[in-house]
Amino acid sequence: MRMKKIMIVFGTRPEAIKMAPIILELKKYAAVDVKICVTAQHREMLDQVLKLFEIKPDIDLNLMKHNQTLPDLTSNVLLKMDEILKKERPDVILIQGDTTTVMATALAAFYNNIIVGHVEAGLRSFNIKSPFPEEFNRRVVSLITKYHFAPTMRAKENLLKEGVNEENIYLTGNTVIDSLYYILKKPVPDYVKQLKNKISKDSKIILVTAHRRENFGERFFNICRGIKKVVERNKEVIVLYPVHYNPNVREPVYSILKGIDRVLLIEPVEYDVLVHLINLSYLILTDSGGIQEEAPSLGKPVLVLRTETERPEGIEAGTAKLVGPYEDKIIDETERLLHDNVEYNRMAKAINPYGDGKASKRIVSILIDE
Ligand code: UD1
Repeated sequence: MRMKKIMIVFGTRPEAIKMAPIILELKKYAAVDVKICVTAQHREMLDQVLKLFEIKPDIDLNLMKHNQTLPDLTSNVLLKMDEILKKERPDVILIQGDTTTVMATALAAFYNNIIVGHVEAGLRSFNIKSPFPEEFNRRVVSLITKYHFAPTMRAKENLLKEGVNEENIYLTGNTVIDSLYYILKKPVPDYVKQLKNKISKDSKIILVTAHRRENFGERFFNICRGIKKVVERNKEVIVLYPVHYNPNVREPVYSILKGIDRVLLIEPVEYDVLVHLINLSYLILTDSGGIQEEAPSLGKPVLVLRTETERPEGIEAGTAKLVGPYEDKIIDETERLLHDNVEYNRMAKAINPYGDGKASKRIVSILIDE
């Protein structure tokens, strides 16, 4: 029998984190020819994850350019992936999430009549402009996909409402929880140990991450002003902020928060460091999707710096709350969690709705059996 060829394509840090456990699982099967292709829409941030999970890509398109535009990146991924798919002809191509890499790769697969499996399928904000361009990307991918791996029941329902055949939807949980458990089994990184030693036990660490395109400009300045006021008004607070490499993020962050007492602006950290920093934190301010999914497993409340989320499960379960990019709301809700123990415990003790750590096993067994 001919070996089944499965090609896994990803380009950014979060895709790598969520694909890594699937790759590790697939590699256990000798009967599958696994080809890993990275577009490298991100470079340093992607390489950190590849190193951590000891994954060596078979193909590296090395596409990242500084300050890349969406049309540029989209056309480069489409043209390069078209070449690769013509040459490799995989039986199935596996993609994850909603980045430009994912959308353009799905399109290349469609043009080449190659079957697509979509990991983390069915997330919807129902606002095509937010997150931008991700809501568009994920809807396009769903049109082309054969295997829809939905992380939650809500995601499955969204796909059913769009007319996707139920037999093509598989409820798997989110692979980010698999990755989280993998990392938690490893020793605490030295960087986190040293930081813990330096910080007084009475301090409350607020971990901040933000990078969304729809927040660029004035909204980002509002977010930074809110953070600045929280630190100034609450002496026990230490803000720890790994600043994304995107120049649209760096400018407002450095202009408002640089040099402020008890604000630590650091370079983007490796994924294992991030997981352990979440663990060390009191609460999290973020616009990241992955952190909304991870933090509940570690019992940390998340205030989401967005006006809507395609991850309503966390809001409903009580693990996350939307505060938008609004200065006053950021201050009010953060201070509520700093001073109101009942509210804090309500959020911290809610159950994680996103997965049980076995999503990649489920996805791989479906792909193998088909
Ligand atoms: C991308 C995804 C977003 C995802 C995010 C995770 C799109 C449209 N956006 O946004 O969905 O949530 O990744 O981080 O696909 N840069 C570096 N080194 C790196 C990574 C980025 O220098 O390792 C800089 C470059 O200047 C680059 C810029 O960041 O041009 C933006 O990267 P890009 O992938 O276009 O967008 P993100 O904001 O990272």
